[in-house]
Amino acid sequence: MAEIRSVVNQVLSQLGASREARYYLKQFSGSDSLQFAVIKIGGAVIDEQLEPLASALAFLRQLGLMPIILHGAGPQLDKALEAASIVTQKRQGLRVTTPEVMEVARPVIYRANRILVHALEEQGVHAQGIQHGVFVCEYLDQDELGLVGHIQRVELEAVRDVAQQGILPVIACLGENPAGQVLNINADIAARELIWAVEPHKIIFLTGAGGLLDQHGRIISSISLHTDLEYLLEQDWVHSGMRLKIEQISQLLDGLPDTASVSITSVENLSRELFTHRGAGTLIRKGESIIEHHSINSQEREIAVKLLEQSFGRRVHEGYFDGLQLECVLRSESYGAMAIVLKGIDGLPYLDKFAVTPEAQGAGLGAAVWQALIHRCPTLYWRSRTANPLTRWYFEQADTAFREDKWVAFSIGIRDFGQLERCKVDSLARVESWVEEKDD
Ligand code: ARG
Repeated sequence: MAEIRSVVNQVLSQLGASREARYYLKQFSGSDSLQFAVIKIGGAVIDEQLEPLASALAFLRQLGLMPIILHGAGPQLDKALEAASIVTQKRQGLRVTTPEVMEVARPVIYRANRILVHALEEQGVHAQGIQHGVFVCEYLDQDELGLVGHIQRVELEAVRDVAQQGILPVIACLGENPAGQVLNINADIAARELIWAVEPHKIIFLTGAGGLLDQHGRIISSISLHTDLEYLLEQDWVHSGMRLKIEQISQLLDGLPDTASVSITSVENLSRELFTHRGAGTLIRKGESIIEHHSINSQEREIAVKLLEQSFGRRVHEGYFDGLQLECVLRSESYGAMAIVLKGIDGLPYLDKFAVTPEAQGAGLGAAVWQALIHRCPTLYWRSRTANPLTRWYFEQADTAFREDKWVAFSIGIRDFGQLERCKVDSLARVESWVEEKDD
């Protein structure tokens, strides 16, 4: 335990935020040890980043976490087939696996598995390759696809045994039929079936790109399927490969408890993704629906006050809710993110408070409430302190921004110049709703 604590402290200093890292470590260690995470590793990552990969996984072991590793060997197999001058076909997106292809594939997959296990052992991690016995298959379509398996059942006994002995299980994507015929299985399908059987808290895809990319080639930080899926699938920059990925992940999460989440990240960013709120990669969750209120009862007030005080680090005036001219309140189901909108000047909506806990921000709930807000209030004005960490982000969202002393007045969708001026004056003149003013 003492050793683990010293490792944790080491990390914390690396990650620079001990509270966050501790928070997630506790969350991840809480569940049944097998249920922490399934990590799917593409064959290319084994080929190109073996040492950093092994040390990133070793780090999780040092923290006492026991992920289940599943890996593919696609690029290795492509190379080996090319070297053997075997041309393979794909049908229904799957590699047609003739006996000649299988003859090449089996040793290639075994080798990738051994290489990863060996690299882990080199880093002091006790690991064991599991090449058979997990995926019980039937032929998917023997005439069309040859030796390709259709998974009937996932056997976790060997995986459990190994993990319970403190040994890291490293599973290869091969299955057998009940008669023992080895069958090839697509790594994405194997991952899905394994994940459904294990029901892990976290699902991690380690890729070279380290996340899903938006139209500017930047990593999309989080996707909340509930609110973003439809929008994303409509975008023309979401190309077919990405669309398929998003749909597969959505289907994957549909078969799991709401708390499960998928992180697509890279080897270098794995620990930052896992142990910080902000993460480093793309986090995908089912998400929460966004709820609109037109009044706040006393119980909700209490929750709202807590959220406001937690996110702003200040105390709200006792009577804050009493005289509010409420336009609406938008919040995520779990109250991790909330917008309080008042009736402002000229009947325009005034955003009085926008509060998001750091966890909800990491989970993409702040962005989800913001989107709902802009949809609900296409014209909106608000103000923010220059010192508020969200102010920079507001600059990106707003159409207009006007800075005065410690405040910035923002607006969206308001075109009339006179009205803009009135909004600015109104927002800057509003009374503080916090008890004691810090001088910043
Ligand atoms: N550390 C948390 C998790 O692993 C939050 C990660 C947030 N990541 C992101 N790309 N927004 O679940």
